[in-house]
Amino acid sequence: MPAQVMSVNGGSAHDIPAKLTGQVVVCSIIAACGGLMFGYDIGISGGVTSMDVFLKKFFPTVFERKHHAKENNYCKFDDQLLQLFTSSLYLAAVVSSLIASSCCKKYGRRITIRLASIFFLIGVLLNAAAMNLMMLIFGRIFLGAGVGFGNQAVPLFISEIAPPNYRGGLNVCFQLLVTSGILFANIVNYFTSGHPYGWRISLGGAAVPALFLAFGSLAIVETPTSLIERGKPELGLVTLRKIRGVEDVQKEYDEIVATTELSKQIKSPWKNLMKRRSRPQLITSALLQIFQQFTGINVIMFYAPVLFQTMGFHSDASLLSAVVTGVINVFATLVAVFTVDRFGRRVLLIEAAIQMLIAQVASGCILASMLKTTGSIPKTYSYVVLALICVFVAGFAWSWGPLGWLIPSEIFPLETRTAGFFVAVSMNMIFTFLIAQAFLTMLCHMRAAIFFFFCAWIVIMLIYAIAFLPETKGVSIDEMNDKVWKKHWFWKRYFDDEREQARDKP
Ligand code: BGC
Repeated sequence: MPAQVMSVNGGSAHDIPAKLTGQVVVCSIIAACGGLMFGYDIGISGGVTSMDVFLKKFFPTVFERKHHAKENNYCKFDDQLLQLFTSSLYLAAVVSSLIASSCCKKYGRRITIRLASIFFLIGVLLNAAAMNLMMLIFGRIFLGAGVGFGNQAVPLFISEIAPPNYRGGLNVCFQLLVTSGILFANIVNYFTSGHPYGWRISLGGAAVPALFLAFGSLAIVETPTSLIERGKPELGLVTLRKIRGVEDVQKEYDEIVATTELSKQIKSPWKNLMKRRSRPQLITSALLQIFQQFTGINVIMFYAPVLFQTMGFHSDASLLSAVVTGVINVFATLVAVFTVDRFGRRVLLIEAAIQMLIAQVASGCILASMLKTTGSIPKTYSYVVLALICVFVAGFAWSWGPLGWLIPSEIFPLETRTAGFFVAVSMNMIFTFLIAQAFLTMLCHMRAAIFFFFCAWIVIMLIYAIAFLPETKGVSIDEMNDKVWKKHWFWKRYFDDEREQARDKP
């Protein structure tokens, strides 16, 4: 049934006849496998780095320390190289997403997605066959290139092929598959941990989402926007008819042409992004991603099995606990899908910040009072901490997780949208890198106080969400400046037109 929808670029409502066709659904799911690759990587490294065979082969000093009876609980896993194993991927992803953004523009979304799967497959081969640490780290760098290319192209691809009124829902597929990838990795780790080559199977399992994406990318269409942008308007029109499932696509086609014409006039989106009037969106996007990482979520995602072992769980119980948090993560993300447009963004962010704060304070207090440098804590308390971690993960999954991606994708005006979104992607990768690289060392030095470090950040982000974050629910993208930013008590000062014009003068 043709739908009454918003303009292609989120502008005021127009009658654009467009159905949610099977082709759009299938293409979106295939592309979202990029999220599955990203998630699998997030989830796999914690389990692998807690496997004895793996530690013995690549990190013998960590292995020794872990099994040294008198060793400090909190410092068992503190090793810069071990952390580099996890974090190198994100550093590679920052650099590659910059290259990917121009690849997307010059050669199209489809080819960028295909390249993502190829880089990823090379990384998987190097990792699964690794004979030494170098092979392992190089493998991670290729995986990072895959993630950088995938994360830059996939959300853009889905947004461009989705009929406008289904765009939000289809986009959340990406985050849903990220969380599914994390869960899949946790389950694989659980079953492979006792096997002498378990770590090879775990790391090699990343080939599954990558192969889906590699073969799938042969079947997906190129987006009409990319075809038109790259000088193939006829093909763009044919593709648009195909994916919309209706003959009359002239209105939408004209809008895409107008949009691409407009964006061609913008010589440098980067220069535009640096202007004073872009600051509210720029600061908001960067802060949301920085805050997302400083909730401490990736401590759980990367190091949950390590953390649970620190609390005295056995290896298997630790991996099983990671599966439990993984299941909560997927199901709680579904809550966001159904509530974000009904209750709004701010309510979810504020409620979840309070929930995460309570869970972190309680976990920190239990660990600070119970877990000393040697010995372990009573089992009951370990289970209470596990339950608190689940409460924390659920809060994150229906708020700062998906909204850290959603809000940056909806607040920029067209002329700075892609450049602005790159800033969000790179902030995510940089701060993920920092957490991955520093956490085990911080745990060693700060002990249970690490929980209070993240609590302090959650208080800051709570204040920010209450006082500075405007509500963007139900506002079309092109009206965002007028209806949201220019009316906000704090951000409106950045839209002082006269000052803006004076500053723009050379
Ligand atoms: C974040 C990741 C995180 C994941 C957990 C994503 O939104 O960007 O860093 O690991 O959520 O589900």
